[in-house]
Amino acid sequence: MPADDRASGSRAADSTKMGNGKAAAHDTAAAGRQAAARESAAGSTAARREGGTAAGAGLVVTGAGKVYASRHRGEPPVTALRDVSLTVAPGAAVGLVGASGSGKSTLARLITGLDRPSTGLITFGGLRVDRLRRGALREFRKHVQMVFQDPYAALNPLHTVGYTLARPVANYLGLGGSQLTERVRDLLATVGLTPAGQFEDKLPHQLSGGQRQRVVIAHALASEPQLIVADEPVSMLDVSLRAGVLRLLNQLRRDHRVGLLYITHDLLSARLVTDDLLVLNAGRVVERGPTRQVLRQPADPYTRRLLAALPNPFADSHPAAAHPFAAGSHPVPARPAALRPAGPSPAAAPLPQSSPASPDGGPA
Ligand SMILES: Nc1ncnc2c1ncn2[C@@H]1O[C@H](COP(=O)(O)OP(=O)(O)O)[C@@H](O)[C@H]1O
Ligand SMILES: [Mg+2]
Repeated sequence: MPADDRASGSRAADSTKMGNGKAAAHDTAAAGRQAAARESAAGSTAARREGGTAAGAGLVVTGAGKVYASRHRGEPPVTALRDVSLTVAPGAAVGLVGASGSGKSTLARLITGLDRPSTGLITFGGLRVDRLRRGALREFRKHVQMVFQDPYAALNPLHTVGYTLARPVANYLGLGGSQLTERVRDLLATVGLTPAGQFEDKLPHQLSGGQRQRVVIAHALASEPQLIVADEPVSMLDVSLRAGVLRLLNQLRRDHRVGLLYITHDLLSARLVTDDLLVLNAGRVVERGPTRQVLRQPADPYTRRLLAALPNPFADSHPAAAHPFAAGSHPVPARPAALRPAGPSPAAAPLPQSSPASPDGGPA
């Protein structure tokens, strides 16, 4: 978002919804307050009109803050998030990047209703997520699903893949019998685990890390959600398996119109799956805008540091050509010469067949 949008509360509130499925965000206190009032009004109307499940407005976080009591006695409370505002329009892919401890997972927990904000509000399709309880929260989870970092912990070791996927299909969609079987097979096919018959009876320990994360993603898709919040979904995977899972996320968005909030400390992967990016530092949004723009011309010193920290394995031999954000003739003034762009535009390019991670032909 251009900086001048931040100066005007009303413009900022309007700009939370950019056209053509793009997402935008804003974070000034004034904008937050105005947007809060509007969202609150619009939200309650939409929720009444559409039974609280409308997807029209997507996800709107307005001025969210979170303060945790200290984990140790006598220590002061931890402010994990401060005045964070963002929008993920239906079908949009937004990245949330930041170093460890910057508040990414806290925000994910607030958005998915696992925890409540200390300040601010969160709406999805006009529904106040931060006020949901039991039954309503369960209904909400049908629409917004979370994929966690650790596919080993996310799956019950005693449940077969088929059973793991059948449960949410039965619970959320109410399917049974042959329809249920068919839907489970569809899900496996969607995440690239084919032939389905080969995977249905497997237990988690019989799968690779990448295959497990595909099962976790299939599980998240079972309720036919409108938004997936993926918190570091590839960080625990072997580098050689990451590209395949990232391609899958892109494909879900393209073919199934699932919105994505992709959370990562890794700018490189964010570039591959998001259109818009927010950079979080110590609980605050310090930069936001189209992913391509933020990565090429980072305005915030923290974003520059994150970019500069990216490894460049070819720095000694062919520094300019090898950097992951190599990008045609557009200069990146804030970056060291060794990391300046060269080669075709990355943002316009599809997810590479051979990503900087490593090729991944089949299901990882
Ligand atoms: N339940 C909790 N109690 C106290 N502090 C917490 C809790 N959860 C997270 N924090 C603190 O909040 C900050 C942000 O954490 P987190 O959201 O997990 O960051 P990230 O996901 O970016 O690594 C950290 O300082 C962390 O120690
Ligand atoms: Mg985290």
